[in-house]
Amino acid sequence: MEICYPYIVDHTEPGTIPYQFEYGLMKTRNILVTGGAGFIGSHVVRLLVNKYPGYRIINLDKLTYAGNLENLRDIEDKPNYVFVKADICDFATVLKIMQDYDVDGVIHLAAESHVDRSIVDPFTFARTNVLGTLSLLQAAKACWLDNHSVISSEVEKSSSSYRRFYHISTDEVYGALEMTHPEGIKPPFTTKASSGEHHLAYGEEFFTEDMKYQPHSPYSAAKASSDHFVRAFHDTYGLPTVITNCSNNYGPYQFPEKLIPLFINNIRNRKPLPVYGKGENVRDWLYVEDHARAIDLIFHEGKDGETYNIGGFNEWKNIDVIKALIRITDRLLGRREGEDDNLITFVTDRAGHDLRYAIDSRKLQRELGWEPSLQFEEGLEKTVRWYLDNEPWMRRVTSGEYEKYYEKMYGNR
Ligand code: NAD
Ligand code: DAU
Repeated sequence: MEICYPYIVDHTEPGTIPYQFEYGLMKTRNILVTGGAGFIGSHVVRLLVNKYPGYRIINLDKLTYAGNLENLRDIEDKPNYVFVKADICDFATVLKIMQDYDVDGVIHLAAESHVDRSIVDPFTFARTNVLGTLSLLQAAKACWLDNHSVISSEVEKSSSSYRRFYHISTDEVYGALEMTHPEGIKPPFTTKASSGEHHLAYGEEFFTEDMKYQPHSPYSAAKASSDHFVRAFHDTYGLPTVITNCSNNYGPYQFPEKLIPLFINNIRNRKPLPVYGKGENVRDWLYVEDHARAIDLIFHEGKDGETYNIGGFNEWKNIDVIKALIRITDRLLGRREGEDDNLITFVTDRAGHDLRYAIDSRKLQRELGWEPSLQFEEGLEKTVRWYLDNEPWMRRVTSGEYEKYYEKMYGNR
């Protein structure tokens, strides 16, 4: 384990006040967030650190190419924030961190997350996403269940079941939905996130929590496997777990290997926009802060052993998102809207490219009252503005290794 100074800002020793005292039946929390230096993780860490000054938030991250402590500059000096550089696959280290910090909640986001990379290097995905999750589950079991009377204690059982292993998963585990209505039909439900421009569904079926798992890519196969391990630890050992499966996120701090930040950067620099296939594939987009708010809610209020889908009923064909991105970026850069449409370049499709994702998140809305807060076109504009305003961030993450990655992925496409 490498504890990183100056990034570690831990004003208390593990096991001392204020993090160990109890008020009423509720303990204050020591929450381990894995992958907190990544895209979604950094939004989750920021939300928890700011919202719960009485909690200690321990961010465990290996800092792979996707992890960036710059994503957390604004909160790194907060007294309730700790950063530990470690690999989730290193069981001994994970166990020690959980013991040292008396961790009572895990929010597990660390993963290899990019489908295209998983097609090139599936082993890394199996190692991190499957074995890494297993290592965390084993550590949580050792700390919370093995040789403890915790679960049999009525008081602790009733104290809002404060021990919780929360696994963040993806809608991709359900496979791909058919596009029965390429022209679009009225969706069964609307949320604040739904597009104002063209609120359509492209098929009648949606991903629901009880749907069969049918992953297609090595990435989604590894995530599916990790979900199964989480359920197995709940069913076999009684580990208090919860799983969520979310749709595509967008927003600030996303690594520009993913569609939206990659395309914004290319439009800005007038580089070709590599659209896979015909650009007809459909994704269901959700603003990242709305995902982080859902995670906070489910971590505190979700039911043990449950699965919740998270999405905004906001389906878009890739080509329509890309045209919207070009319009917004051109406008914000003072160019004529649509001036950069000629950058669109249709390239060889992604192998096994899932056609349509569409999440039904009504269970979460019904049972826990979650609602997205940001409408898609507003969110897209906010996102483009953030990347244009944060050019130094983009420049830093696209130098060096990124150039090699780009050449390898797109050079001969
Ligand atoms: P990301 O790639 O931006 O970040 C992943 C983070 O995990 C990085 O900080 C990286 O350094 C860290 N990490 C990787 N391997 C590690 C290891 N072995 N040990 C410790 N840390 C390690 O990913 P993201 O897009 O923020 O996704 C976070 C989670 O949410 C993932 O589990 C992903 O499957 C899931 N998810 C993502 C989306 C999306 O649209 N991005 C949607 C649904 C679910
Ligand atoms: O659905 C949730 C998933 O969303 C998450 O679990 C993944 O971690 C996340 O990466 C995302 O997966 P996608 O494969 O859908 O995201 P990506 O941004 O890579 O691609 C979005 C769509 O755009 C997809 O249909 C492929 C297409 N695309 C992508 C890239 C990078 C292109 O046409 N060109 C590109 O260069």
